[in-house]
Amino acid sequence: MYRIEKTAVIGAGTMGLGIAGQLANAGVEVLLLDLPSDGPERNAIAARGLERLLDERQPGLLHPEYRHRITIGNVEDDLERLADADWITEAVVERLDVKQALYRRLDAVRKPGSMVSSNTSTIPIALLVDGMPETFRREFAITHFFNPVRFMRLLELVRGEDTRPEVIECLAQFNEARMGKGIVVCNDTPGFLGNRVGVFAIQTALHAAFRLGLKPEAADAIFGRPMGVPKTGVFGLYDLIGIDLMSDVARSLVSILPPDDAFHAVAGEIPVMKRMIAEGRIGNKGGQGGFYRFADPRDATSRQTLDLETFAYRAFERSVPESAARAERAGDPALLIAGDDVYAEYAWDVLSRTLCYAASLVPAVNASLVAIDDAMKLGYNWVQGPFELMDALGVDALLERLEAEGRSAPAFLQQARGRSFYRVGAARLQYLGADGAYRDLERPAGIRRFSEERRTRTPRQQNPAASYYDIGQDVGLVEFHSKANTLDGDSMGLLADAVEHASAHCAGLVIHNDAAHFSCGVNLAGVLAYIDQQDWDGLDAFLAHFQQTVLGMRDAPVPVVAAPAGLSLGGGFEVVLHCDRVIFHANSVTGLVESLVGLVPGGGGVKETLYRWFEHEGDPARAAWQAFKQVGYGKTAHSPVMAQSLQMFREGCDAFVMNRDRMLDQAVRAVQELAGDYRPAGREPLPAAGPAVREAMDAWLQDTHQQGRLGAHDVNVGRQIASIVTGGGVAAGTLLTEEDLLDLERTAFLALARTPETRARIAHMLDFGTPLRN
Ligand code: NAI
Repeated sequence: MYRIEKTAVIGAGTMGLGIAGQLANAGVEVLLLDLPSDGPERNAIAARGLERLLDERQPGLLHPEYRHRITIGNVEDDLERLADADWITEAVVERLDVKQALYRRLDAVRKPGSMVSSNTSTIPIALLVDGMPETFRREFAITHFFNPVRFMRLLELVRGEDTRPEVIECLAQFNEARMGKGIVVCNDTPGFLGNRVGVFAIQTALHAAFRLGLKPEAADAIFGRPMGVPKTGVFGLYDLIGIDLMSDVARSLVSILPPDDAFHAVAGEIPVMKRMIAEGRIGNKGGQGGFYRFADPRDATSRQTLDLETFAYRAFERSVPESAARAERAGDPALLIAGDDVYAEYAWDVLSRTLCYAASLVPAVNASLVAIDDAMKLGYNWVQGPFELMDALGVDALLERLEAEGRSAPAFLQQARGRSFYRVGAARLQYLGADGAYRDLERPAGIRRFSEERRTRTPRQQNPAASYYDIGQDVGLVEFHSKANTLDGDSMGLLADAVEHASAHCAGLVIHNDAAHFSCGVNLAGVLAYIDQQDWDGLDAFLAHFQQTVLGMRDAPVPVVAAPAGLSLGGGFEVVLHCDRVIFHANSVTGLVESLVGLVPGGGGVKETLYRWFEHEGDPARAAWQAFKQVGYGKTAHSPVMAQSLQMFREGCDAFVMNRDRMLDQAVRAVQELAGDYRPAGREPLPAAGPAVREAMDAWLQDTHQQGRLGAHDVNVGRQIASIVTGGGVAAGTLLTEEDLLDLERTAFLALARTPETRARIAHMLDFGTPLRN
């Protein structure tokens, strides 16, 4: 009986804006209200907020035009308009009195059958609805989104004592399918699940680093990627969130957690940090730096670290403890705690405390370990949840070491002795229940997470970079799984074999993975090795193999569907460009960014861009110009909606989904749909734009360089792109086959690879992760 068509958000701050933006992304009309401002422009606060949603560095909207789905107003002049809303979300300041006063006012105008929710992080639902009529309490819930709302996958949904199950059902269903969130239903306990475990972990990592005298760089190198935690680590995360804000969060958790909670031991204020806050060194947002800063914000090499003794900034130390490097390479967090140096001690201290804390929450705080793992993966971007981590370390090994140290283990961890928290039983992934029995991990229909499904299947073929699976329903799946999913000869070799196998035995093939990024492109370290060995034939052969693999995939007798999330850049996007259909995630970032490292796309990317523009423009010269500028500037699209105008998304063919967990299901459906009377599309030759267009491009490059808008080496790269898109010197109108264009790509790639400027750009990207302008 509950349904959501029209919505309202109250509070146009960080969270309210994010929620309103995501509602607009979901195609829903939103009324966004904040306080009235004193000046003549009564809606100035909400209006300013709306501008922030368009911030190019982290756009909250899939397309700027979606702002028109948001109507702004204020809670004095526009309160009556809430009568239209099916769901009203409150995201005002974290103050009980303010929230309660607002609920009384909005309850007077809202329509019967509408739902109200709060985004509170810390206030129990019982307090929020205290004194409110039962009709209100029955239609009220907590919907706790994470910041930034567009990108963080978790929504914690909290039911009050009186909340109707239908309200929870409707909010869960809407937020999962339309808003793209992973729903974790939580009890009304302090910090719910994500912050309860997440803030505990961060505080533990912080306190242990100070206690053991670790430098921030070393702590972050351990409590970071090797642990499956985002690379910001602990000090970097403090800088990102704001040292002042994190202190507030810790304080507020202290005030609501029971006195015997282990959190209190790691919540104390650290004197150095008090001084940092007093001096305005509150992190990235403050402009004064935090634990880290960039001496020159435009120079990625100028990173510095605050020396906590002298309180002066010193050069950032890049050295990573050997154990951390090994653990990250092997993807095995157990290697972090194996040694007997201070780094292993730190890793053990943080991991053992955090994992025990998570285990202590079952069943009192939540009956399901899956809810806790999901909260950490979706809300804190951990690669594995705490229980998955305990399995990776080994439950018995963990218990033995705790016992050897005379520490007690929580009952639920002890219950797992001799077993694991997850297992595969009867070809199903199962988890240990609070009662000690295993049960099947069931997800709602349409939700398929490949990282879970993979555990129940054996790859048909596998190498260090990629695997090929039979995923049932007559469909094969290729998963990339190298670091950042960069592509090398292994990835392409496996893809070629998978295409061959699927062509003979399956209805079609899906290319998908569950990592943060579908693929960040060709492995640049590999390219650099060819350059340093001056192995030009080897490099040419690598490119030719790449090109023939994607072409072979495109021309296979069965459909191939890509389902990319996160970054699909460079070579990664060249794979995507050659698929029959693409099911994008709504936050997919796509683009051919090779020019930034002084190269051209050499895996069919220029060719495909040119073809798509030719199909769109119908004119070789116009198509050549579009492809020239797009590839030259290394343009990226931050959403599939933005990708349309760059011809990176084909209307009427490709699709996108809001929820990452629905991509695989949609991709399998797409294969089945295409498989019926499938014929590979192929490509007819296209007419070359010719030398006159190339000369015009050359003149444009010179002009733009003289105006200071292009660097000297950008001109070299631009010339090579111009050469490809105009046909490499053949007369205008000469027909070019795909193979002709692929040959031109390789020639251009090799010419640039031989220049010292390109070598410098690649080395800089590998060292600092940012482009070098030379
Ligand atoms: P914020 O301070 O950025 O924004 C709050 C907004 O509410 C301001 O624009 C303010 O003018 C407005 N406001 C205050 N009183 C109002 C009233 N009576 N009527 C209408 N508007 C009013 O706060 P933020 O960070 O967006 O937090 C909002 C809520 O979300 C809080 O309950 C907070 O605990 C929660 N939250 C915050 C997260 C975060 O990372 N910032 C994450 C998850 C939850």
